[in-house]
Amino acid sequence: MRVGGSAEWLLEPTTPDELHRAWVAVHEAGSALRLLGAGADVIVGDGLHRCVVIATSRLDRVFRPGTMEDDENAFEVQPENVGRVAQPPRDQDPRLVAWCGASLPGLVRAASELGWSGLEGLVGVPGRLGGAVTTNAGGRWGELWDVIETVRVLDEAGEVRDLKREDCSPAYRDGRLGSAIVIGAVLRLQSSTRAEVQDRARSYLLEKNAVQPVTQASAGCIFKNPDREVSDGRSAGQLIDDLGLKGLRRGAAQVSLLHGNFIINLGGARAADVLGLADEVAARVADDAGVQLEREVRTWLADQQ
Ligand code: EPU
Repeated sequence: MRVGGSAEWLLEPTTPDELHRAWVAVHEAGSALRLLGAGADVIVGDGLHRCVVIATSRLDRVFRPGTMEDDENAFEVQPENVGRVAQPPRDQDPRLVAWCGASLPGLVRAASELGWSGLEGLVGVPGRLGGAVTTNAGGRWGELWDVIETVRVLDEAGEVRDLKREDCSPAYRDGRLGSAIVIGAVLRLQSSTRAEVQDRARSYLLEKNAVQPVTQASAGCIFKNPDREVSDGRSAGQLIDDLGLKGLRRGAAQVSLLHGNFIINLGGARAADVLGLADEVAARVADDAGVQLEREVRTWLADQQ
């Protein structure tokens, strides 16, 4: 969204072990902690944030697991070992290990170049793996948890744990991981052909780019889609559109003219403008359409404005 203030501290671990040690240091210091991926789904409040931000951007490795039988060591396989570790042929083991800072567009591209299907529904979704697992990023053509085999997390006690897909219950826009921090994940895809996967990705992207303000600064959809029964089958964007709220402005924040569920930063907006506008839209939808919209984006409010 390109709004918001600054944090007191920024840590940029480069390995899962450094991430773990950063977590321990933050807890020993008694500081508040925030995890930042690409910030694609976050509205950072104006002012000074008295906390430590751990940015995952340097934890961006993506590689194939060692062997099909040897799942336990999937996360330990480092790119420099690839070639020294026996790997089955690509079409027999279409899996990728990704660390939490791996870019989602990069993962979609890597899978499609390998001719592996399952991630193309996420084409055009910005962000990094950790946030995408935590929020179960996705849309009409699929969700990230559809392809997750295992997630490695740091739990609230600071223990590293591997969670299997079958032991988790991800929901719409919620990976249901509580306060656990995602270290990485093993993604299981399906062998297909590069042409097929790329064709599908291209057509999804065309459809999406036609209806979403993809070239303007935003935090994606601001609200979750409401329960269809409550909203008469209308999406959040449609409810906002039907009330004629597209184009509504507060400072340099504006409800997108293209899609009602996006607020865009026209340039120089403050977080307060964006959040105030989101509240105004939600209040109008509640009053005039009788539907309570729930925010989809995360907000980080500062201690000092
Ligand atoms: N619509 C309107 N007016 C608008 C916007 C939408 O009438 O201003 C109508 C559309 O014509 C369509 C319906 O509302 O009939 C749904 O719209 P759309 O197909 O754009 O999908 P969406 O439900 O608004 C969801 C996700 C998006 C995801 C797309 C495509 C949510 C809140 N949004 O949007 O996710 O990209 O499907 O898969 O679930 C995000 O999470 O940040 C996000 C952008």
